[in-house]
Amino acid sequence: MKTRVMIGLGVTVGVTLGVTRGATLGATLGAVALMALSTALHAGETGELLAQCAACHGPDGVARSADVPNLAGQHGLYLYNQLRAFADGKRPHKEMRFMSRQLSDAEMREIAHYYEQQPR
Ligand code: HEC
Repeated sequence: MKTRVMIGLGVTVGVTLGVTRGATLGATLGAVALMALSTALHAGETGELLAQCAACHGPDGVARSADVPNLAGQHGLYLYNQLRAFADGKRPHKEMRFMSRQLSDAEMREIAHYYEQQPR
């Protein structure tokens, strides 16, 4: 939600610049500003989500408890499919259903990618 609002802002700034400073310069500045903005915010939001996962799965995807599976180094597609299954209720689990239902499809993919990159 926050990201979308801020991206909207970026577009507005870009368009305004385009009108006031000439099409080419404005469009370039707008695009750069938009990219920087969405990258920064994106990292921030995913970071917040990952901090919630870290409580159980560890910051690096290596769980501290034997009741919780390690995610580090697991295949991204596997992780994504599990998150989908939790959210859809196909894989029943109270906590994970709650956690996964807060995630958008894009966030699931990003999170899966993050854990895939972590060393086992
Ligand atoms: C309250 C603790 C807790 C939190 C917070 C939590 N998880 Fe889990 N997670 C678990 C447990 C326990 C399991 C094992 C579920 C089972 O037994 O089926 C699990 C399973 C998973 C699996 C499946 C792993 C596998 O090997 O099949 C994924 C993927 C996953 N969690 C991702 C996440 C993500 C992403 C977040 C943050 C958005 C998160 N979890 C937050 C406790 C938690």
